Amino acid sequence: MNRCLELRGAHAWYGRAHVLQGVDLHVAPGEIVALLGRNGAGRSTLARAVMGLVERRGRYLWCGQDIGALRTFEIARRGIGYVPESRDVFPGMTVEQNLVLGQKAARPGRWTRAEVYRLFPPLARRAGVQAQYLSGGEQQMLALGRTLMGDPALMLVDEPAEGLAPQVVAQLAACLAELRRQGMAILLIEQKLDFALDIADRAYVLGHGAVVFAGTPAALRADVPVRREWIEL
Ligand SMILES: Nc1ncnc2c1ncn2[C@@H]1O[C@H](COP(=O)(O)OP(=O)(O)OP(=O)(O)O)[C@@H](O)[C@H]1O
Ligand SMILES: [Mg+2]
Repeated sequence: MNRCLELRGAHAWYGRAHVLQGVDLHVAPGEIVALLGRNGAGRSTLARAVMGLVERRGRYLWCGQDIGALRTFEIARRGIGYVPESRDVFPGMTVEQNLVLGQKAARPGRWTRAEVYRLFPPLARRAGVQAQYLSGGEQQMLALGRTLMGDPALMLVDEPAEGLAPQVVAQLAACLAELRRQGMAILLIEQKLDFALDIADRAYVLGHGAVVFAGTPAALRADVPVRREWIEL
């Protein structure tokens, strides 16, 4: 199978805290892969490790090439986009300015502001508004849109549905599905089990920094012991 992201025996640390403890995981082109687990399981750390934001060891492969020694901007330039939990939009800048900042200086990519607005119509109506005045859902769309402007082939999206109303979560799910239809690979880090499993092609569950489940959404839904021990409260 063609694997765009592949982790083999991936480890990560914060100082002396050994968080990821030998993770095997892959994401293929055009696939939405859910990454689930309880608070503190290491899901955000995995995204940060892929982006080179924490100390890491093991194999971090992108299109078969080792990216484990590359710096964050180099990893982004090769086509991995990251939308952190905190969303990190620039609050004092308008929607339009935030999107322009997401564009890579070196080469204009396939994504334009017009295409981002087509994918997220609410943003088009707010183009001239400072990000700080957007709703949570609009800020999430802006964070996704800004990352798209960097022209990724894979997006690591950390808890996009957090704090959003069900109707907005549904809108978001439709947008992610549309991105997949266009060939985007997405690693979807989530707490909301139904949102993630409804759109994911495959799922992993992390527990204490290791993979405790890998399989289809249907298999995870049916696996009550795994859900009880590693996901549900
Ligand atoms: N900057 C940091 N320094 C030290 N330890 C950290 C740091 N960030 C996270 N940790 C620790 O690493 C572990 C994994 O954290 P991580 O943020 O990856 O969890 P998570 O699965 O994303 O869960 P959640 O987002 O619900 O908190 C936790 O024990 C956490 O306390
Ligand atoms: Mg997290």
